[in-house]
Amino acid sequence: MPPTPDAASVFVTRRIPEAGLEVLRAAGIRFEIGHDDEESATPRPVLLDGVARHDVLLSLLTEAVDREVLERNPRLRGVSQMAVGVDNIDLETAARLGVPVAHTPGVLTDATADLAFTLLLAVARRVVESHAYTLAGRFTCWGPNLLLGRGVGPGPDGTPKTLGIVGFGRIGRAMARRAAGFGMRILVSTRSPETAQDAPGVEVVEFDELLRRSDFVSLHVPGTAATRHLIGADELARMRAGAVLINTARGTVVDEAALVEALRSGHVGGAGLDVYEREPELAPGLAELPNVVLLPHVGSATAETRDHMAVLAAGAAVAFARGERAGNLVGGG
Ligand code: GLV
Repeated sequence: MPPTPDAASVFVTRRIPEAGLEVLRAAGIRFEIGHDDEESATPRPVLLDGVARHDVLLSLLTEAVDREVLERNPRLRGVSQMAVGVDNIDLETAARLGVPVAHTPGVLTDATADLAFTLLLAVARRVVESHAYTLAGRFTCWGPNLLLGRGVGPGPDGTPKTLGIVGFGRIGRAMARRAAGFGMRILVSTRSPETAQDAPGVEVVEFDELLRRSDFVSLHVPGTAATRHLIGADELARMRAGAVLINTARGTVVDEAALVEALRSGHVGGAGLDVYEREPELAPGLAELPNVVLLPHVGSATAETRDHMAVLAAGAAVAFARGERAGNLVGGG
């Protein structure tokens, strides 16, 4: 394909999967990759320089696309983020500047719900501790009291375990489908109860009731000012004694220092976390706790999902470069 007539170009802040770069090449869009490293974020000066020299930003969640970045280039035609969450982007400034912002919903729903349920099972059945025990050569004999965990299915007396799902968007609903397969009772707290009307076997309750009744609480709300510390010391105290918290949403939804205290005291029985309040830093003490499973933000990390995310993000970047509006607009101008 020939280059776009006005030769608009895309700044890809960090290398994305090849499938996405192919979309840019096939569309004849010039692009530059700012940072080519899997394990570090794009340095700020590279980001500021790149956004100034290109017309479209293809960003990742590791970069702060804030006012300084957005105002750097008065010709900026759009920001396309390869993620569903956009808490790293200053949407208000983007709207004020008339810069559209796109994201990649839908394609990572199952991968993320799979990981949330994996964390739930791993914490409940002490999978990581058991693995470490075996690797350490400590498995010398089967023991009737060895590494006892919590049931997730109904168990011998047939009483179902209760999962509380906070936020009932695509991923929350996918989590409910998985829990239904395990015979769990499902409680949902959502600002839009109508979204749960057609979900089978789901009981919509107030947030407090969910905390009080759930054996497992899984968070599926976006990271916004309104959800910051939705789970703080008070909420943790209101959870059932020994309940388990799962967070694959955004770290800022949980007061991580308060969680460390609640886990230390044993009131919260365990936590499975894929995201952190000051990612990639962990709150002091978190990593030393025995009752946690801690993952490095890999909710959407399957090869097929990341390819789809890259293709969607690149498609929106192409549209922005051509002066069109993209399909998955999340905000901005
Ligand atoms: C991952 O956390 C995403 O928002 O896509």
